[in-house]
Amino acid sequence: MKVLILGSGGREHAIAWKLLRSSTPVELFIAPGNAGTAALGTNVTLNPNDFAAVKTFCLEAHIEMVVVGPEEPLVRGIYDYFKEDEALRHIIITGPSAKGAQLEGSKAFAKAFMMRHQIPTAAYREFDENSYEEGVSYLRNHTLPIVLKADGLAAGKGVLICSSTEEAINEFSSMVRESKFGDSGKKVVVEQFLDGIELSVFVCTDGAHYVMLPEAKDYKKIGVGDTGLNTGGMGAVSPVPFATPHFMQKVIDRIVDPTIAGLRQENIDYKGFIFFGLIKVDDEPYVIEYNCRLGDPETEVILLRFRNDFVELLKAMHEGSLSGITPDIDKNTAVTIMAVSGGYPGTYSKGYPIAFNYLNNPMEIKHIDEEGGVVVFHAGTRLEGEEVLTNGGRVLAVSSLADAIGECLELSMEVMGQIHFDKMYYREDIGHEFVD
Ligand code: AMP
Ligand code: GLY
Repeated sequence: MKVLILGSGGREHAIAWKLLRSSTPVELFIAPGNAGTAALGTNVTLNPNDFAAVKTFCLEAHIEMVVVGPEEPLVRGIYDYFKEDEALRHIIITGPSAKGAQLEGSKAFAKAFMMRHQIPTAAYREFDENSYEEGVSYLRNHTLPIVLKADGLAAGKGVLICSSTEEAINEFSSMVRESKFGDSGKKVVVEQFLDGIELSVFVCTDGAHYVMLPEAKDYKKIGVGDTGLNTGGMGAVSPVPFATPHFMQKVIDRIVDPTIAGLRQENIDYKGFIFFGLIKVDDEPYVIEYNCRLGDPETEVILLRFRNDFVELLKAMHEGSLSGITPDIDKNTAVTIMAVSGGYPGTYSKGYPIAFNYLNNPMEIKHIDEEGGVVVFHAGTRLEGEEVLTNGGRVLAVSSLADAIGECLELSMEVMGQIHFDKMYYREDIGHEFVD
């Protein structure tokens, strides 16, 4: 089967790796991909948001399945573009439709959806230019801290947690009046602050049924001890020890089931992944956000533990037969640690050569197989001739699978110690709170 993966991060490398473990023989194309995906298939110079170019490539290369990694093509309607085109309609594509992708593309849409379906989330109000004065007086009476969210996609930067009323009013004003996050951020969701621990839950749905993937915890801050600026994610672990069966049952009953039922009731075409960004407050789950895709770096751990055939899963998603698939989740633990460019998430340089010294001692490293081991997923890398160069903020996701978290950390750290590039940085405390 010829499969096109859209995207270029660690998530897409992990998806490529997983697809090649399917019982269906797969030929992979990745657009635009990275140095890691180049070793598993053919990288294609294509912008995933240029649908006409994606179409031309799909037809020329006889693509049978498209896996969309990032949210932007989905929010822009790539799923609908395929469904509405006679020549593309037969291709299996991971959705959702643009309407469904509004769960991520518009915070206001997501909040209203949760209200309609009684899904637990922080209390909120939304304001824009027309209700600016009302917004300011609402902020004046709001308890601290105050959470402000730009309505539209803001590349992960659209959420502000303000510790004073003055700061909240200033930020609100620059979002609404000065388009701090662009036009789509001129609408602002003001939300109650929830104090708890976060986790990520994933399902693959055909719109009526769903298959639950393993849950994960993401480490968002750049610094050790969860300090400093927010990043795309500095590491992840799965399973999440505080996601007990009792807690996960609440997640299913109060959040996952009502979300799927709500999409169905509202006739929203949703065949794809749902990423529930949750927070646990006194053992009760609340939704912080929805995403319409898999997470990065969460994918780099959840796909190590998800043992089902990925091609079969996506075929069943397309055909509406997911009820026939029982998830087979590895009991082992998976951890990923991100090696990033010094300076990230601020400014950083690219183009440094990466030395993968562990590849010179293959006998000393347990490369991943069914029993566990290590796999290094590439994120911001590119090939220049034979050389692998850094090409982004997040560079490599060193991922491991073993029967205990301590063992995973040992494996990942051993490999991390044998990878070098100029100004390389990683968090040394990923998963440490879960080590016995
Ligand atoms: P989001 O882009 O919605 O994932 O928000 C980014 C981060 O802001 C989340 O991962 C949380 O850490 C934090 N956050 C968002 N909303 C809230 C809230 N209502 N209470 C506390 N923290 C929040
Ligand atoms: N790791 C969080 C995300 O993918 O949005």
